[in-house]
Amino acid sequence: MSTLFTNARLINPAERLDSTGAIQLSDGGLIEAIAFEPQTLEAAMNVRVIDFTGGIIASGLFDMHCHFREPGFEYKETISSGAASAVAGGFTGVAVMPNTEPCIDHPGIVHYIQHHAASLPVDIEVIGALTAARKGEKISGYADLAASGVKALSDDGSPVMNSRVMRHAFEYAAAFGLLVIQHCEDTCLTDGGAMNEGYYSSLLGLRGIASISESIVASRDLSLVRYLAEGLPEHSPLRPRYHIAHISTRETLKLVREAKAEGLQVSCEVAPHHFALSDKDVFESGYDGNFRMNPPLRSDRDREAVLEALADGTIDCIATDHAPHAEHEKDCGFAQAAFGIVGLETAVGLTFTHLVETHLVTPARAIELLSTAPRKLLQLPEIHFKVGAPANLTFIDPKAAWTVDTSNLKSKSHNSPFHNVRLTGKPVGIASKGRLILDHARFA
Ligand code: DOR
Ligand code: ZN
Repeated sequence: MSTLFTNARLINPAERLDSTGAIQLSDGGLIEAIAFEPQTLEAAMNVRVIDFTGGIIASGLFDMHCHFREPGFEYKETISSGAASAVAGGFTGVAVMPNTEPCIDHPGIVHYIQHHAASLPVDIEVIGALTAARKGEKISGYADLAASGVKALSDDGSPVMNSRVMRHAFEYAAAFGLLVIQHCEDTCLTDGGAMNEGYYSSLLGLRGIASISESIVASRDLSLVRYLAEGLPEHSPLRPRYHIAHISTRETLKLVREAKAEGLQVSCEVAPHHFALSDKDVFESGYDGNFRMNPPLRSDRDREAVLEALADGTIDCIATDHAPHAEHEKDCGFAQAAFGIVGLETAVGLTFTHLVETHLVTPARAIELLSTAPRKLLQLPEIHFKVGAPANLTFIDPKAAWTVDTSNLKSKSHNSPFHNVRLTGKPVGIASKGRLILDHARFA
């Protein structure tokens, strides 16, 4: 049976669309009809009509930074449980990071993931390892990885510290048109650190992770990008494309702003926890391991710089860095806890609460940050709101107030610092890969 949604706010930044309207989806997941106010759609016989007044129907959200842990760490998350978490979070697509065991540095593992993803209701793109076995010593086989369909390269979880290797990575990735995603961290500076270095790390007696450990690697990389782009025409495919994962400091944002002004092909993402929390929250949590991630929650000053960069466009997109860990890896003392938190199911709520409700960004910009921009960075096809197109949509109730309960998460892991936090804005369904999956409580 077809389903007609009426009175919704239809947002697709790729088509500069932000209008009230109605959209009808076929049983098979195609857009059958669409109309924008003042026009509307009349329901034919046998069409289920849902009045979605106040709701947003957006181009499907895409998270370009997830850890699904398979193969190797299935006790934390599997491709299937990760996909269930993505659906619950309103995402129709994700890209998975290669720090699995074995890591994703050759086509066999890419094919393994693609095979398991085929029957799941969300698109799962794969990011290949930047260096062989993620050791940072020599680049991996980009020709084979590109042929197997990876959309970017990264050693996320660790940086590439060696400048010669990084240079090779930029040169060869550009030859295959692949985005290079760096986890910016000078590990010589961060060694043994547990949280952001500053007043609160001193108060807690925890070893600090200095903010300069991020910007120093970004600075080196941007120097390489600048050097390698020199003399090449503006649209040369050989110019490196560089993306900074989970940016967290004021200084790194300043570097990105300058590099963009110069015309370098540079982009960055921020994780919701870096605009929602700061190191003060680590202090107030009382050594709760769920507040430990890498990069760590930074100072309020850094957090303010992140908010400013989200508003002025320096930050290109929001990515969750969904990093599931089992309870015993988190509930073991702050300094021993594994780095990372689950993020797929709280991203929309945190974005609407901290960015939209505060009027820092419009709902359309929020959708751009969560959908259009990451798709563009990974060169995925644009989503179209037109008759006959496959429905790739996220349904959001922007004013729904709800409380995060980590025991209800669909992820296999529950390591979130947002347990019991009240949020405004909730994902309530997706249309993806021929399926319409709606939150029964909302659409009863
Ligand atoms: O907090 C983090 N967790 N940061 C990373 O860079 C890696 C990730 C993980 O894989 O758990
Ligand atoms: Zn990560």
